[in-house]
Amino acid sequence: MEIIVSDSVEEMSRTAARLVARTLNSKPNAVLGLATGSTPLGLYKELVRMHQEEGLDFSQVTTFNLDEYVGLTRKHPQSYHYFMHENLFQHINIPKQNIYIPSGTTDNYEAFCSWYEQRIVECGGIDLQILGIGSDGHIAFNEPTSSLGSRTRIKTLAKQTIDDNARFFDDLAEDVPVYAITMGVGTILEAEKILLLANGASKAKAVAQAIEGPVTSMITASALQLHPDVMYIVDRPAASALTMSDYYEWIQTKMPDAP
Ligand code: PGA
Repeated sequence: MEIIVSDSVEEMSRTAARLVARTLNSKPNAVLGLATGSTPLGLYKELVRMHQEEGLDFSQVTTFNLDEYVGLTRKHPQSYHYFMHENLFQHINIPKQNIYIPSGTTDNYEAFCSWYEQRIVECGGIDLQILGIGSDGHIAFNEPTSSLGSRTRIKTLAKQTIDDNARFFDDLAEDVPVYAITMGVGTILEAEKILLLANGASKAKAVAQAIEGPVTSMITASALQLHPDVMYIVDRPAASALTMSDYYEWIQTKMPDAP
């Protein structure tokens, strides 16, 4: 596990974008796993800039999003379909048919979830998975006590998540959907490389539990400890509860000379 502490959200986003660009430059038809929420907004903005100003090419890229609210149509301003279109897809040259986002309006969730898992495999698996983290330690919508072997399925959101996400909805927590369709922890762990971003003091406890705590379904991000290639990029407030941060920063200074 590699932990990079950034001085600002902007620096966190630029470092993450450089990693995505490196992936696309070495594998132009890479499969990216994408996240929504406020955390990756700076990353998407930087990727759009790199596309527009530096020609970063998405023409062969395939993407799979982590999750979607059940009951929200693609056109709903709070749906993750809408979010992705507004913040990334409409600004880059990714072919529409290469974009996969779980459906919040299918009439057969079980069949859709199996199909989604199957499509990931058929596309060769996810090369780089981008994640945020919830203040309850979730990755995607894998709320506390989700099986660490879980696959794409419907989840009931935790009260904490509904409260956290109410800021995006007009009429407070009553409007936040209660169910979501989400990739499972087991699905996420199959990605080749995982990049988790976190910023702000509200994430400090979850980040510390995920990195330094025991592996537990109470903090589903802690399952990333079992993955061989995970990078965390966190800003200083999000890193503030880590007990080993001096060591993580020291590693970064020593890395260029490592054998
Ligand atoms: P946020 O959400 O980026 O809006 O903080 C992250 C998450 O819940 O995974």
